[in-house]
Amino acid sequence: MEATITLLQGWRQRIEEALEAFLPKGERSIYEAMHYAVFSGGKRYRPLLLMSAGHYYQAPEEELLPVACAVEYIHNYSLIHDDLPAMDDDDFRRGRPSLHRAFDEALALLTGDALLTLAFQVVAEAPFPPKKSAVKEEIIRWLSRSAGVEGMIGGQIRDLYFSAEDQNEAEFLEMVKKKTGNLIIFSVVAGGIIGGASSRQIQILSSFGEKLGYAFQLRDDLFDWKQDEQAAGKNDSPNFTLVFGEERTRSLLNQYLNEAIKILQEGGINSHELIYLAEMLRLEN
Ligand code: IPE
Ligand code: IPE
Ligand code: MG
Ligand code: MG
Repeated sequence: MEATITLLQGWRQRIEEALEAFLPKGERSIYEAMHYAVFSGGKRYRPLLLMSAGHYYQAPEEELLPVACAVEYIHNYSLIHDDLPAMDDDDFRRGRPSLHRAFDEALALLTGDALLTLAFQVVAEAPFPPKKSAVKEEIIRWLSRSAGVEGMIGGQIRDLYFSAEDQNEAEFLEMVKKKTGNLIIFSVVAGGIIGGASSRQIQILSSFGEKLGYAFQLRDDLFDWKQDEQAAGKNDSPNFTLVFGEERTRSLLNQYLNEAIKILQEGGINSHELIYLAEMLRLEN
């Protein structure tokens, strides 16, 4: 346990340094806004998943870090746009004014665009040896599919344009898988791909990531719902707990975490770090 925490803390530190190093610097407000968006107390959950999976397959850290940063940049771009008045209309993110509040809406759009573009630049320029160019290609393919219209964007579309009450539980969870699950699945799978995992192991990692993605969003919805109860309704974006109730959210969250861990264990992937990151999502933590 202590070795796991030490490893995760070390990666966390190196992720922070790499995120800073890859970020372009300049005087104008776009640079300031990119920095504001990326360094505001994010948990770095996705990059930590990626480093953990990659470590399990002994992938070189210098290949993992740029891809870990790329997924974090994409995550941060998605949050900037998600908070805009045209989307969830949230004035706060991580306890600070959301980007369009700290700057303005046009800059928030462009900052999101810049981070999305930067993500692919960082992967393209990552120091993979020539014999691993097919691996890099595979990463770019997975990342673009996960973030795109068949992935996260598709989930955001459903989130915005389908009324939550009109969706049954399975449909609601399908939306969750797309909007949140895809980047989480990518993170786990990318570590495996860079480390040369077999296609069967990639399949196991992907199923683990899928369960984890559900758990992640259910936990987020439960906490948002609790806060909204106190604040009497912050926004009207679809929330699983609001539609299906607190009890159901709690039991489903636990069920998904149990399933996630079982998938890894039965698949023979004994990564203490991945299990630790799953256990972190338990409600008592
Ligand atoms: C929040 O993600 C948005 C969801 C997909 C639920 P995180 O909880 O990972 O956000 P940060 O980056 O740690 O703030
Ligand atoms: C965010 O979902 C998902 C993406 C940005 C892709 P939410 O809208 O539920 O997340 P929060 O509650 O604003 O962090
Ligand atoms: Mg949203
Ligand atoms: Mg939102």
